[in-house]
Amino acid sequence: MKVSIIGGGGLVGSCAGFALQCGGVAREIALLDVNADLAAGQALDILHGGPSVADQIISSGSYEHVPSSDVVCITAGLRRKPDESRLDLINRNTDLFVQILQQVKAAGLKPSAKVLVVSNPVDILTYVAAKSLGLTEQQVIGLGTQLDTIRFCSLIADHLKAPATQTRALILGEHGDSMVPIWSSATVGGLPLEKYPNWSNNTGNQIFTRTKGSGAEVIGKKGGAGFAVGIAIRDVIESILLDSRKILPVSTVQSGCYGIRDVALSVPTVVGSCGAVDRIELELWPKEMQGLRSSASALRPTLETVLKRVGKI
Ligand code: 2OP
Repeated sequence: MKVSIIGGGGLVGSCAGFALQCGGVAREIALLDVNADLAAGQALDILHGGPSVADQIISSGSYEHVPSSDVVCITAGLRRKPDESRLDLINRNTDLFVQILQQVKAAGLKPSAKVLVVSNPVDILTYVAAKSLGLTEQQVIGLGTQLDTIRFCSLIADHLKAPATQTRALILGEHGDSMVPIWSSATVGGLPLEKYPNWSNNTGNQIFTRTKGSGAEVIGKKGGAGFAVGIAIRDVIESILLDSRKILPVSTVQSGCYGIRDVALSVPTVVGSCGAVDRIELELWPKEMQGLRSSASALRPTLETVLKRVGKI
């Protein structure tokens, strides 16, 4: 199966390519970028590691890779400044993103292709892509809060000195300021988090605040996130390629889950070879449900502004 990464020359795209190489599931990884030399350099650097990792085809180029791709991952876009919200990015990134969608459509997608949107603000751009690409809405997925969820779990595990791979705590809603921590189903090693040694609500609140600010924290320290974003992208793409049907908090256009419609945000989603195969309406505490609905409301004004700006693609 082939994965093409638009923006593959950049930090997020190249880290996604490296993560997919290390995962060994994608048979072919193509890095597409307007900066052809940069994409070629990233691809060559990844290729060099191949003998110790997996038998894959690693290439770079442009939209000529799209028609043969099973998954097209769109990471291209400007990065926000530390004090800028993801929604603030919309004016600068919308025009670029629309151009990318037009070039993807012109190149031609496989009828079975899935598109993973990473560019920010990801929930807004996922909605635009889902309505523009001529695929079914289930074939267009946004990375959403999968990244926030693994960040959240990493910080909880780090604080408790617990195994990160056994720490499960969801973030749902907007990949942005209105994201929602789901404490009601959080566990460590299958044990309820709230009963875990050295855990307290105060600790939880501090860790959630840091999770919400993690994107800006990383941008402030190193200019932009790459490694964890690449891992989160691999989580989603490999669940598609293997038809694992993992339940992942990814962004899709909602059609009634939790009473939310006609906006893209993250709810527990079954991710398989058809894309967003199903959604699981996990039982939530009332305040969590309210937070999810508030997240949908927070996204709507920007979505309406963008749809007016973008019109019919
Ligand atoms: C982040 O949170 C890039 O939105 C991504 O780092």
